[in-house]
Amino acid sequence: MLLLPWVVCAVVPPVRVSRAPTMVLGGLQGRRQKKRVESKAYDYIIVGGGTAGCVLANRLSADPSKSVLVVEAGSAPPDNILVKVPVAVLKLFRSKWDWDFATEPADHLDARSLYLCRGKGLGGSSCTNVMLYTRGSEADYDAWAAECDDASWKGSAMLEYFKRAEKCLSTENSGVGKWHGDDGPAAVSDVPYQNPLSKAFLEATKEAGFSENADFNDWSREQVGFGRFQVSQRRGVRESAASAYLGSKVRRRPNLDIVTGATVTKIAFDGREAKSVDFALRDRNVTAALSDNAASEIIVTAGAIGSPQVLMLSGVGPASELAEHDIPVVVDLGGVGKNMQDHPACLVSRYSTKDAPKSHSTSLRIPGTTATNPVAAVRWLARKDGPLTSPGCDHGGFLRLSPDASTHESDVQLRFLATKSITPDGMSTIANDYKATRNHPDGFTVQTILARPKSKDGTVTLASNDPFQKPKITGAYLSDQDDVDTMVAALKRARDILAQPALSKYAADEEFPGPDVFTDDALAAYAKRTVHTANAIVGTCKLGTPSDPLAVVDNQLKVIGTTCLRVCDSSIMPVLPGGQTGSSTIAIAEKAADLLLNMESSSSSSTKDQKVAA
Ligand SMILES: Cc1cc2nc3c(=O)[nH]c(=O)nc-3n(C[C@H](O)[C@H](O)[C@H](O)COP(=O)(O)OP(=O)(O)OC[C@H]3O[C@@H](n4cnc5c(N)ncnc54)[C@H](O)[C@@H]3O)c2cc1C
Ligand SMILES: *[C@@H]1O[C@H](CO)[C@@H](O)[C@H](O)[C@H]1NC(C)=O
Repeated sequence: MLLLPWVVCAVVPPVRVSRAPTMVLGGLQGRRQKKRVESKAYDYIIVGGGTAGCVLANRLSADPSKSVLVVEAGSAPPDNILVKVPVAVLKLFRSKWDWDFATEPADHLDARSLYLCRGKGLGGSSCTNVMLYTRGSEADYDAWAAECDDASWKGSAMLEYFKRAEKCLSTENSGVGKWHGDDGPAAVSDVPYQNPLSKAFLEATKEAGFSENADFNDWSREQVGFGRFQVSQRRGVRESAASAYLGSKVRRRPNLDIVTGATVTKIAFDGREAKSVDFALRDRNVTAALSDNAASEIIVTAGAIGSPQVLMLSGVGPASELAEHDIPVVVDLGGVGKNMQDHPACLVSRYSTKDAPKSHSTSLRIPGTTATNPVAAVRWLARKDGPLTSPGCDHGGFLRLSPDASTHESDVQLRFLATKSITPDGMSTIANDYKATRNHPDGFTVQTILARPKSKDGTVTLASNDPFQKPKITGAYLSDQDDVDTMVAALKRARDILAQPALSKYAADEEFPGPDVFTDDALAAYAKRTVHTANAIVGTCKLGTPSDPLAVVDNQLKVIGTTCLRVCDSSIMPVLPGGQTGSSTIAIAEKAADLLLNMESSSSSSTKDQKVAA
């Protein structure tokens, strides 16, 4: 994601403080919440009410005989206007809905630390993301199946979970039924607005010889090609996992307790059997216990950074690292926090000429002020359409640049933005200096993203045994030389497209990388000093076979070496799919719900002891 300088929603109504939602525990004060939670025993305790957590809360509490507790560190459902208005996403960075993580400075990043946004609040990162709905390819999931030696993870099987989750509202879509679902809870739409420059970009990709792709989620064709990305929106409003899965009716279920503002500090074990969850609710320490029901389980869905952190704080992780922080080892599991992958991004950005079409991004602003053009705001408020419905980067496509003949997969995603970037390192700088985005000259940008990067050696490790201290994160990004080469090729290709007649007629000077950055070496150096996250952090509790030294969960998502404990979120992805990771996370959680519920029917007569033995 990149800087959309014009996203200053000064005219949008003032931020509404999100009040406690109408959920079971929402109305209670801390002391009474504690009493309530500790007086009960739960069949399922969900650690983290983010994207996957919302899906599981809904699916598992659908059976009224099962009691479910969700423990979420952030605030209540952010039905705040900034979460709802798609274009306002930039305002969420470093807000109270963002954990605001950062990587350690690294040589392959030119000694820089990269800013990483992760959502905090019911809905998690689905409330702060860019909403692009692109699943990747069928082969991406076939690779997962190979990792864990279980065909039920193959693309053809995962497709059923994507469809189960989806309510396809895309009108241009012919694949409903085959590639898209139409009666799931999570709406998927086309953006109801198209910037004229974005249209010119698609024209330019044709001029550059690329094919069209009308639906990046149609697996009967190759992913390569350009078009409009589908988005997680319902009639011009962000569709988060919370809005899709935790509507007020679900939140009122008597068997579903949701505690917000509650940071999980530890999962407690009896031997290797997970028993209870400790969390800090403001100044109170609360313990939530599992019921004696044989099928009861703790489900970790704290995200790709939170999940390994919670496991390690609980004694599940690399023994040597745990020892450094005086944490008693429950299971020595070397893969916890390893294998962190992300999509690296760079960009090419040019100024535009005065002839560039007028409805182009900055015209949203009242000239000479930082206020949003009221027409755009009124259009959204009255009709939920217009420029505010665009997350900024909903046009683009995939291409294959690698000479490696063994794969037909694309390796690069390009995203077009009808605005000039302020800084070349996307999120990294802009979040530091938001004011710098104002009053910039017009232009346009192509973001170059490695869709299937080879750099996979990022890590999440504890900085201390204090659960409130952020973990240490090292980013893989361009650590593999092949990725640097592919990024250089992608930057050149992006330049080519911007030079095609449909766009070059509006193009003035290039600012980034800039006219003096031309040789491959210079472009590689530019990539290193400007690479930023495309926000697809995964892999830190990898799915695999028990013989895989990096595996943290098995094909059933059970944490290896433990019982009554699973991880069911983006952290289990063994390899990044060549799409965005939100829809894949939802599909994982839908599958996890099936796994949890089926297991229950096959072992409901067994006792806990038998389960431990099994
Ligand atoms: C800026 C940004 C842009 C993105 N753009 C896209 C996009 O366009 N399309 C797309 O598909 N994907 C996108 N993604 C990625 C996608 O949103 C994530 O992959 C997905 O939401 C991850 O889901 P999750 O359930 O694994 O984690 P999350 O949704 O992050 O949920 C984890 C939850 O656990 C909570 N938590 C963490 N630790 C604790 C603790 N100790 N105690 C209690 N609670 C805790 C967190 O507060 C959070 O609510 C983007 C992400 C970001 C941040
Ligand atoms: C909660 O637990 C932490 C450590 O686990 C402790 O330092 C703190 O004093 C406890 N707070 C209360 C109110 O008991």
